[in-house]
Amino acid sequence: MIHARITGTGSYLPGSPISNDALIAAHGLDSSDDWIVERTGIKARHFAGPGVAASDLAYEAGRQALAAAGRAPNDIDLVIVATSTPDYVFPSTAALLQAKLGIKSGGAAFDVQAVCSGFMYALTIAEKFILSGSHKCALVVGAEVFSRILDWKDRGTCVLFGDGAGAVVLEASAEPGILASSLHADGSYNSILSVPGQVSGGQAIGDPFVRMDGQAVFKFAVKVLAEVASEVVAAAGLTPADIDWLVPHQANIRIIQSTARKFGLPMEKCILTVHDHGNTSAASIPLAFDHGVRSGRIKCGDVVLFEGVGGGFTWGATLLKY
Ligand code: UT7
Repeated sequence: MIHARITGTGSYLPGSPISNDALIAAHGLDSSDDWIVERTGIKARHFAGPGVAASDLAYEAGRQALAAAGRAPNDIDLVIVATSTPDYVFPSTAALLQAKLGIKSGGAAFDVQAVCSGFMYALTIAEKFILSGSHKCALVVGAEVFSRILDWKDRGTCVLFGDGAGAVVLEASAEPGILASSLHADGSYNSILSVPGQVSGGQAIGDPFVRMDGQAVFKFAVKVLAEVASEVVAAAGLTPADIDWLVPHQANIRIIQSTARKFGLPMEKCILTVHDHGNTSAASIPLAFDHGVRSGRIKCGDVVLFEGVGGGFTWGATLLKY
């Protein structure tokens, strides 16, 4: 039987950490370190410099993941990049990444857009490709330069997000890897988190910045994350007690605490990067996973739960044996 297994991880954060106080000072925000830390857990984030695009961050994370998996560029026959902040309207960031990494295998490359759930979507798509037998070795990346779509006059959103990338190599394997996965969406909630603009006639039409009803997002996130986590654990025939590590989307420490509590998981089993990274949207789960792996906490054979939620509204979870 074919399984889809993660064989390597990588991540990349651009530049130096920017503290809450530095961000507040740089943009003259009516905010405080205390407010941001208390309401979100965020203490710092990273921003890409001018001219640095999502594919540049994806390249650094992808390179590390390939090295960790012991794979050469031409072993990769599928590149999927989850991003809401692509380099261009087209070509896809995945196609640009394929070229930057020197992948000449002629395999497929495309982007997935499911905002902060993007990595969950990308990973599950890659899993299905591998289980179908059509592809053998995928590079799955979440990469974002959210700083490009933040309104520095909107203190309710601009303090929350950061830039970064995380990547995994997902391969066909005789050993179990992904045990269960599930994706969901409810487009009727599209307006509670959006960038309601477009490029047309040579200019931005509408609003090119992140707009969010924070409380509505918070309530929705807490509800659906607990549901989808239960769904994948049950689908795998396991119980929450079998989970070694929860690697949640890093949006807000209070959302993570609430989901962990509902699911009966102690916080010691959660990989947390929200303090240092902020919300890096589609990059947050693979970034946190890579940190868990490289810090030696997540070990080979551990049962790991990924869960994410984001604009659309979209949400999903994956349970896997690392
Ligand atoms: O990946 C998914 C993306 N997003 C999320 O997961 C975010 C989910 N939502 C949240 O994390 C929280 O709703 C926020 C952190 C965004 C906001 O926290 P909250 O406890 O829901 O605050 P609130 O929106 O109810 O605002 C409370 C007060 C308001 O002032 P008034 O009306 O009470 O005077 C806001 O204007 O806090 C004010 N406020 C701020 N104050 C200082 C909003 N942003 C800030 C700020 N600094 N940065």
